[in-house]
Amino acid sequence: MAATDLEHVSNAEPEPRNLSLGGHVGFDSLPDQLVSKSVTQGFSFNILCVGETGIGKSTLMNTLFNTTFETEEASHHEECVRLRPQTYDLQESNVHLKLTIVDAVGFGDQINKDDSYRPIVDYIDAQFESYLQEELKIRRSLFDYHDTRIHVCLYFITPTGHSLKSLDLVTMKKLDSKVNIIPIIAKADTISKSELHKFKIKIMGELVSNGVQIYQFPTDDEAVAEINAVMNAHLPFAVVGSTEEVKVGNKLVRARQYPWGVVQVENENHCDFVKLREMLIRVNMEDLREQTHSRHYELYRRCKLEEMGFQDSDGDSQPFSLQETYEAKRKEFLSELQRKEEEMRQMFVNKVKETELELKEKERELHEKFEHLKRIHQEEKRKVEEKRRELEEETNAFNCRKAAMEALQSQALHATSQQPLRKDKDKKKAGGWSSIYSVTIP
Ligand code: GTP
Ligand code: MG
Repeated sequence: MAATDLEHVSNAEPEPRNLSLGGHVGFDSLPDQLVSKSVTQGFSFNILCVGETGIGKSTLMNTLFNTTFETEEASHHEECVRLRPQTYDLQESNVHLKLTIVDAVGFGDQINKDDSYRPIVDYIDAQFESYLQEELKIRRSLFDYHDTRIHVCLYFITPTGHSLKSLDLVTMKKLDSKVNIIPIIAKADTISKSELHKFKIKIMGELVSNGVQIYQFPTDDEAVAEINAVMNAHLPFAVVGSTEEVKVGNKLVRARQYPWGVVQVENENHCDFVKLREMLIRVNMEDLREQTHSRHYELYRRCKLEEMGFQDSDGDSQPFSLQETYEAKRKEFLSELQRKEEEMRQMFVNKVKETELELKEKERELHEKFEHLKRIHQEEKRKVEEKRRELEEETNAFNCRKAAMEALQSQALHATSQQPLRKDKDKKKAGGWSSIYSVTIP
């Protein structure tokens, strides 16, 4: 035998052989063990309700679970869409259900509805992310982890009788790869039977032509294939919600009472409420949970891990190695870090150079300013100096005149003090004459 043939034989999985048992062994109780384990563990189911404010979301939830969830009315003035989760513990027989109802509060109330879908998508992704984080932990506790991933989105369509709004189409398109969407026509009692039929056909046509994938009830399980196939043809379900009880005949039924008659919620001739409850809770709840995990979460997980650089095999179809991927990512990260560091260093050097140039320019400007001021100052000084000289000359001239005048004055005074003597002499000489000396000061 050739070496390659030997390799082939040793790698091939051995065919299992059929053997019959000699008596009862007991592993046929495995399904019972599973049921018992699941019942002990309890179940979680998370419903996202998307629809305009006041479309009847809370009423339908109360009607579906036959209880009253404490929810408050939303205002029409929310700035953006806000997700409000509320979790309840419910019990039926010995089965515990942790039910979370998430309301998209304020949906359709904003003037600009371009981004209305975004908070919903973000919320769904955030739940996937926290599950992924739990899975990636070294010490995982998925057994008692509260799974908040959305299992179904009930999309409430306004009963206009016309067509879907673009907001409905955009939102459903953005959500269809992330969650199981079941579209329902809300407040179906406000639309006539013939109009409702046309409306349903129109909605389905629009969903198909816009490539929106809604949840299809599975037909691969023989036990439910038939009923699910029939129900798929009834989508979108036209529902009526009410928690009010009305006496019809001698029975109390949940209904909406109008002056012209009574709409019975659980009457299949009046609306599709029973179909919705059957499909959502009694037949396909587990499939919705399963689809969420195996389809929507798997897609999120795959994209996320690929984004992080993980692959199932490398280019040469070699099996994926966590260690190698980690090393490669680490190297990539370090070289990126180095590149960034170099970039920042270069940026810093450039900045310093720029600042230096700016400082030099400022210094030059300051110097010029100083020189200019200095010139002005010297000019001023020269002028002051000139003024001082002029003033000094004037003072000298004044002093000269003053001295001359003082000299004259003293002459005059001297002359005056000599006068009586001279007078006497003159009187003696000339027989006396009086004369007045007048001194003119130049
Ligand atoms: P928000 O949480 O405030 O956005 O409202 P919602 O969507 O939860 O609506 P809610 O259940 O509070 O119902 C709003 C109003 O619609 C109430 O007056 C309900 O009685 C009425 N309503 C609910 N379901 C139906 C229905 O099927 N048909 C009709 N005609 N009215 C309904
Ligand atoms: Mg509500």
